[in-house]
Amino acid sequence: MHMSIRVAVSGASGYVGGEVLRVFSAHPDVEFGALTAHSSAGDALGAHQPHLRHLAERVVVETTPENLAGHDVVVLALPHGASAEIAAQLPPETLVIDCGADHRLESAQAWAEYYGGDHAGTWPYGMPELITPTGHQRDALPGTKRIAVPGCNVTAVTLGLQPGVAAGVVDPSDVVAVLANGYSGAGKKLAVPYLASEALGSAQPYAVGGSHRHIPEIVQNLTSAGAADVRLSFTPTLVPMARGILATVTAPLATGVNVEAVRAAWEDAYADEPFVHLLPEGQWPTTAATLGANTALIQVAVDGKAGRVVVVAAIDNLVKGTAGAALQSMNVALGLPETTGLTTIGVAP
Ligand SMILES: NC(=O)c1ccc[n+]([C@@H]2O[C@H](COP(=O)([O-])OP(=O)(O)OC[C@H]3O[C@@H](n4cnc5c(N)ncnc54)[C@H](OP(=O)(O)O)[C@@H]3O)[C@@H](O)[C@H]2O)c1
Repeated sequence: MHMSIRVAVSGASGYVGGEVLRVFSAHPDVEFGALTAHSSAGDALGAHQPHLRHLAERVVVETTPENLAGHDVVVLALPHGASAEIAAQLPPETLVIDCGADHRLESAQAWAEYYGGDHAGTWPYGMPELITPTGHQRDALPGTKRIAVPGCNVTAVTLGLQPGVAAGVVDPSDVVAVLANGYSGAGKKLAVPYLASEALGSAQPYAVGGSHRHIPEIVQNLTSAGAADVRLSFTPTLVPMARGILATVTAPLATGVNVEAVRAAWEDAYADEPFVHLLPEGQWPTTAATLGANTALIQVAVDGKAGRVVVVAAIDNLVKGTAGAALQSMNVALGLPETTGLTTIGVAP
């Protein structure tokens, strides 16, 4: 028997909002209520999301508590700051899923340092696979009415490295992460670095030198997985693709650990995970193999000469990195099978 879940999507004209609409459309119980945004209010959705033909005639309305009232679920896909403001005006019985950063961090100090302004508080974190001191984050989600969806880079780095941290086979005090990122990660904004003439045929680093806002969230997650002391060097690089993140994460091999123990750590961590796949030895993740799918593809190797474990993780930033995580967490929160409506079938090449 199907239940009916009435979902409002705020930020419906943006990249994440569009992907939430696409991914949630495959859920058998979801029906869409209000589609809200800001400057595009009054427009037909088809003007902003031409790939969503089934919703093309729907009219986008302004993001207000009144327009978002009367739904079982409200998904916020808004710039950070905007989501906390509207979330504070939504009733406690509504399941609110925030794809922005406002409610992810536990530390108000880290929020002030990386984002600035007042910390809006901490919501249950929407990464079911996150290893926690007592099990997994999915254990904390049933029945919750508030979910903070993780950052996309955070998902790639956390899912990549956490098995080694939890098993004690890597030293988390010297983690280096370098990422190749598709441009949709920056949202639908106009800016010179995002012009085709700058982007095509070029790779551009950004937020170099420890300033990226996802750093404290990754540290928070690796601490959850068991790290006592995390030091992270994190460098993203825009590369000419619309979607996808390829994260290469390295950390020193812990003393006395052999190659078999490293592989076993990743195998054990993800043997039962429906959406996180350790590839067969020697096969490396590609972003293309994750596009449109709620999958994280992972490979791990030991660089004996460097004395480091090297992990490569690929995700689609808009699916496993956002909209898929939102739906997966919604399922757990509502007591539905976690995989309902979610696909591991990608689009390639
Ligand atoms: N892009 C990613 O890969 C990704 C991944 C994970 C998380 N996120 C997070 O998801 C959120 C949305 O990102 P995005 O990439 O979808 O950005 P985007 O493409 O720029 O879309 C932003 C959306 O927010 C709406 N909006 C802007 N200001 C608003 C306001 N003051 N009140 C109400 N609505 C407002 C916009 O509406 P109008 O167009 O009508 O003005 C648009 O629908 C951000 O917090 C981002 O950090 C993004």
